[in-house]
Amino acid sequence: MLKSVFLIVTLLNVKQYAEVYFHGKKDEHFSLISDVNVQINARFIGIRPAGRSRDFTWIQAIGLMFGSHNFTLEATKAENWDQEADHLKFTYNGMSLSVPLGHSSVWNSPDQNLELERTSATNSIRVTIQEIVEISANVVPVTEEEDAIHSYGIPKNDSFAHLEVQFRLFDLSPKVEGILGRTYQPSFKNPAKSGVDMAVVGGDDKYKTSSLLSADCNSCTVFTSGKNVAERK
Ligand SMILES: *[C@@H]1O[C@H](CO)[C@@H](O)[C@H](O)[C@H]1NC(C)=O
Ligand SMILES: *[C@@H]1O[C@H](CO)[C@@H](O)[C@H](O)[C@H]1NC(C)=O
Repeated sequence: MLKSVFLIVTLLNVKQYAEVYFHGKKDEHFSLISDVNVQINARFIGIRPAGRSRDFTWIQAIGLMFGSHNFTLEATKAENWDQEADHLKFTYNGMSLSVPLGHSSVWNSPDQNLELERTSATNSIRVTIQEIVEISANVVPVTEEEDAIHSYGIPKNDSFAHLEVQFRLFDLSPKVEGILGRTYQPSFKNPAKSGVDMAVVGGDDKYKTSSLLSADCNSCTVFTSGKNVAERK
């Protein structure tokens, strides 16, 4: 079975795959979703044990662009993992923001089109962009147990805090692209064995972007920044 980043996709209507496997590369950015109304990228962190030809990767941050807005969500670095400490960091339109600690604590953007709600006291958040996407994210470390099982070789001074993310996507166009997006295309064929509830997506060169908030990947052709979300109705 392929290891590394796996993105759990919760589907609303007809989606077939529950999980998407993609390797990518550490310290690079890739497009998860690139559609007419939204672009969602991820920054990967990772490790390459000696003698291996691929990185083990995890998602450290995600960046969204919708309408003329942008939003980022990051897992902050932690030398030693402490669940009581919050490791979430956010920006909206380039400004950092904070969501008060505590379960159910909420932050809304001034125009109310983005809502953040904590789903536990620390390290868990639900992000809602009306009619576009709902994201559930938890910050978690790579545990010693996982490290031992998979022989990642995680350094002693870094817990590899990263995001576990689930997406619910609404109203995608048939031209949607990106690592996750591509699996929503009507013509998508899973290279994995049929009957497996998991999509395998390759092609680093198609999805790589130059930063967390840019839509310059080779397959990112349909997203138009600045398109007013309200105009869609
Ligand atoms: C994010 O949005 C702000 C406000 O519109 C803008 O100034 C900034 O350039 C945007 N950042 C990126 C990377 O596009
Ligand atoms: C861990 O130690 C290495 C080697 O000394 C260093 O390069 C790295 O920056 C350290 N990482 C953290 C998170 O402090």
